[in-house]
Amino acid sequence: MKILVTGGAGFIGSNVADAYIEAGHEVVIVDNLFTGKSSNVNPKARFYLMDIRSEELRKVFEIEKPDVVNHHAAQMSVPASVEDPLFDADVNVKGFLNMLESARRSGTKKIIFISSGGAVYGNAAEYPTGEDYPPEPASPYAITKYVSEKYLSFYRSLYGIDYTVLRYANIYGPRQAPHGEAGVVAIFTDRLLNGSMCTLYCYKEEPRGMTRDYCYVGDAARANLLALSNGSGGVYNIGTGVPTHTSDLFRAIYEAVRDTCGISQGLEHPKTREARPGDLRRSCLRIGKAKELGWEPGVVLGEGLRRTIERRMRDLRLQGA
Ligand SMILES: NC(=O)c1ccc[n+]([C@@H]2O[C@H](COP(=O)([O-])OP(=O)(O)OC[C@H]3O[C@@H](n4cnc5c(N)ncnc54)[C@H](O)[C@@H]3O)[C@@H](O)[C@H]2O)c1
Repeated sequence: MKILVTGGAGFIGSNVADAYIEAGHEVVIVDNLFTGKSSNVNPKARFYLMDIRSEELRKVFEIEKPDVVNHHAAQMSVPASVEDPLFDADVNVKGFLNMLESARRSGTKKIIFISSGGAVYGNAAEYPTGEDYPPEPASPYAITKYVSEKYLSFYRSLYGIDYTVLRYANIYGPRQAPHGEAGVVAIFTDRLLNGSMCTLYCYKEEPRGMTRDYCYVGDAARANLLALSNGSGGVYNIGTGVPTHTSDLFRAIYEAVRDTCGISQGLEHPKTREARPGDLRRSCLRIGKAKELGWEPGVVLGEGLRRTIERRMRDLRLQGA
């Protein structure tokens, strides 16, 4: 199968592209390297350095005629979406529609769209939250993800383009960037390895920090493989169903770093700061429906953190840091 992966130079998209190539598929990547890295691009993929908002995108689709589009490209920071909702909508809605129109014109059969279970449900009353819970998006980023899901359903009914939506929990693992506001596993790991203090964002009533559902990137990549042939017209949560407080996550990373390579003194108590606008108090996904895809998570948090930290240390050693 020929699959065009947008955002295939990014953290999750590159892991997905690798999994597709390993399974014998032909992969084309479109990415403008806004947050992605060319070193993440699988050398067996054909790479177009391009913005998904570009008019040139249609030409790429005319040339490549992909069977499936896997759409990972996005402005993916909640705080950035609050700060600049116009930019967020430009990439996440207009860029998404530009991809969808290009796909429709070139005869693409299916779109696998990456939404956010950690965002679209908002501060849901049902917890863990299932796919049938009515979304209450609480940030511009969450709104754009939910709107995109609605466009897919429209394109399916009007043009017959199939789709599967994967609503990710908090994905972590190798290649996650430790910069910016997202990716707390990568941020804590890098700060502890560098001997710097970490910061926990908390609501006053919940000093242990917010809760999140942390899912290993290899498990997310496997869901994208299964979605090639399953989950027609469906929406699926991809997570673990296990809530973790940020302070417990910090502790687990702290102990893993301390036990593998030692740690500077005085870093065991992170600073705390008031939660930021758009930060959800808690988020955890009900994941039973993903069995329809043939999917369930395979890597528990402790093991996923161990793999992530070991890989990060190896990368830092290779960079001579
Ligand atoms: N990381 C998570 O926990 C998480 C959770 C829920 C959903 N998601 C979604 O998963 C997807 C991938 O996220 P990630 O964590 O790998 O982030 P990432 O920033 O590493 O990946 C995004 C990729 O998209 C590319 N990109 C951004 N704007 C683009 C544009 N205008 N044109 C072309 N390429 C562009 C970036 O360069 C990058 O390679 C996003 O859609 C994000 O919203 C991520």
